[in-house]
Amino acid sequence: MKVEKPFPEIIFEQMQQKDLEQVMAIEKAAFPDDPWHVSFFKRELHKRKTYTHLYVARLNNRVIGYIVFYIFCGEGQIMNIAVASEYRRRGVATYLLASALEIAQKNRGREIFLEVAVNNTAARGLYKQFGFEVYGTRKRYYHNGEDAYILRKEI
Ligand SMILES: CC(C)(COP(=O)(O)OP(=O)(O)OC[C@H]1O[C@@H](n2cnc3c(N)ncnc32)[C@H](O)[C@@H]1OP(=O)(O)O)[C@@H](O)C(=O)NCCC(=O)NCCS
Repeated sequence: MKVEKPFPEIIFEQMQQKDLEQVMAIEKAAFPDDPWHVSFFKRELHKRKTYTHLYVARLNNRVIGYIVFYIFCGEGQIMNIAVASEYRRRGVATYLLASALEIAQKNRGREIFLEVAVNNTAARGLYKQFGFEVYGTRKRYYHNGEDAYILRKEI
């Protein structure tokens, strides 16, 4: 899916160690009940295996969103995506996801999966626009007991 940049100056680039403070601020606000610990980002950044990808959307030197995904043996997984609340609903997640799917395609990904909380209307709307379809359900997947849908899309 070809998408327009939401802002002319927005940059999609690999996450760096120096981004972690801003990334963690977005992460904690986006997932207040169960944020990823900073050590998880650090570990992934450190080993940076060829199949794990961590990218940020940067605007005027500030991180306004990020996406973490992997592609392994043709199969991909979106592990995390979030946008700073003041930049939501302007196409930033669409830009992040479209850019990630382009990378997945280049890395010979054939299909991509993710989990989304059944009540996460915003994220479900985002994934629907990309043609993700329900592949299964994980009962009580989240800390708060909420179920998750497993979504899948052919790349
Ligand atoms: C989900 C999230 C990443 C979307 O980011 P975003 O930059 O606002 O998304 P976009 O502007 O690209 O929106 C794309 C589409 O998603 C849907 N969408 C996004 N926010 C929505 C909302 N609040 N309510 C309903 N639909 C919404 C719409 O279909 C939207 O298209 P439209 O604006 O043309 O109607 C953001 O809300 C977020 O960070 N949420 C907290 C973290 C999270 O839930 N991550 C996903 C975990 S699976």
